[in-house]
Amino acid sequence: MSVDDWWQRGVVYQIYPRSFADSNGDGVGDLAGIIEHLDHLETLGVDAIWLSPIYPSPMKDFGYDVSDYTGVHPLFGSLEDFDQLVAAAHARKLKVILDFVPNHTSDQHPWFRESRDPAAGGGPPNNWLSCFGGSGWQLDAQTGQYYYHAFLPEQPDLNWRNPEVVEAMLGVLRFWLDRGVDGFRVDVLWHLVKDEDFRDNPSNPAWRPGMDPYQALVPVQTTDRPEVQDIVARLRRLLDEYDERVLIGEIYLPVERLVKYYGVNLRGAQLPFNFQLVHAPWNAPQIARLIEEYEPSVAAKEWPNWVLGNHDQHRIASRVGAAQARVAAMLLLTLRGTPTLYYGDEIGMRDVDIPPGRVQDPVERNVPGLGLGRDPERTPMQWNAEAHAGFSTHEPWLPVAPDYREVNVAVQRDAAKSMLRLYVELIALRRGEAALEVGRFELMKTGDDVLAYVRRGRREESEFLIALNLGTEPRTLALAGGGTVALSTHLDRWLEPLAGEVRLRADEGVIVRLAARA
Ligand code: GLC
Repeated sequence: MSVDDWWQRGVVYQIYPRSFADSNGDGVGDLAGIIEHLDHLETLGVDAIWLSPIYPSPMKDFGYDVSDYTGVHPLFGSLEDFDQLVAAAHARKLKVILDFVPNHTSDQHPWFRESRDPAAGGGPPNNWLSCFGGSGWQLDAQTGQYYYHAFLPEQPDLNWRNPEVVEAMLGVLRFWLDRGVDGFRVDVLWHLVKDEDFRDNPSNPAWRPGMDPYQALVPVQTTDRPEVQDIVARLRRLLDEYDERVLIGEIYLPVERLVKYYGVNLRGAQLPFNFQLVHAPWNAPQIARLIEEYEPSVAAKEWPNWVLGNHDQHRIASRVGAAQARVAAMLLLTLRGTPTLYYGDEIGMRDVDIPPGRVQDPVERNVPGLGLGRDPERTPMQWNAEAHAGFSTHEPWLPVAPDYREVNVAVQRDAAKSMLRLYVELIALRRGEAALEVGRFELMKTGDDVLAYVRRGRREESEFLIALNLGTEPRTLALAGGGTVALSTHLDRWLEPLAGEVRLRADEGVIVRLAARA
């Protein structure tokens, strides 16, 4: 297969713009703030930045409620700032990926406002639920009609069966592609089409009180409808009119349904986001099992990808602890496929407890107390030990982590064994090693807590063994032939020769450069 595309070899870095860097002292991050911190991304060595939405929005869902698809919210700056960001990023060989939110607009978008002609009403058409709590139907007092919202009532769903919607949205993509955008991460791609006959969703027998109320029904009529594939293919056709652009889909589905989004003959998304690691119980057998399921499901010409965290999920360092977060970093950056990392994970940022008076996320407000709120993983980037972690000169929109004086970019840049150094070393080692970037993948049989695999290039390149101890006891793995340690998550053992076995300390992962076979 061809593995020469930047989005195959590269590392994607997600920026949540509200929380990355505030250049104008209003407590909310902005585009100029991102430009000021491109050095950090260059040092880190990532290839692309994906920005969560920067468009005009009433911010009911912090930008995922778009009221104008071809503008920039004044909080973030202007179109000129955006053009400057693209130019500055491109000058550093960084690609720029935008978030595209096609499933719904804001209720303040003119399309929704204009759609509201008064008409005779009835009751809600069926039992469809909102992902953000309660019914998915909202009675519009102005029209007497109900409209469906998969998320907030302020995020009415678009009707992708309407050709005018398709054309308008393709126009939106063209607008940004013509401005030099390198691709899109498409929000809730599997939601775009709903059942034409508005049939009820069946109830979920596995649901119990205390679980996410949205999961009380199985959303077969509202998500992953077969017709969505035509839309994905249409989006892709448009991107293919331009050079080297990437279509990434946000899709939370089991693997066998997820991989359909590559499309027939690769005519779909290049990277249907693979969130397996986000939900995985953190132990070696389970992770081995999910890799064994995912790897063969991705067909020969399709390209895998892996995600550890994003703005909707608790942070990896909180999910697995600080020590295992280092192992997770090594896993993410050595599996076969494009890795996506979430801002702040490179310094080991953790979820932050949000006092009740500072809750911002509508999910926490609507469905409180179940741990579904997403503010904890959206707190300001910790740049240095100064006030507000160097994020802003003003009290930020979400609280800064209490440990920011120790956990920040400035401290970790100068510390030889920091998480940031580990990420820098991992990405630097990957780069230019064909075996790690695009090589084959072979899972090894191991016992206990060790997850191990080999990455091999297709030609004469180095081969690597990756051995990860997911447990808190030392472990030993047999090694046929010898090798040298290329990297340990503990950032010691540099070039240590190995023969016959790999010893792993608790919570240690190593990348071993295998000795060339005779
Ligand atoms: C996606 C986004 C999430 C947003 C939702 C509605 O899941 O990642 O943040 O709230 O879609 O747009």
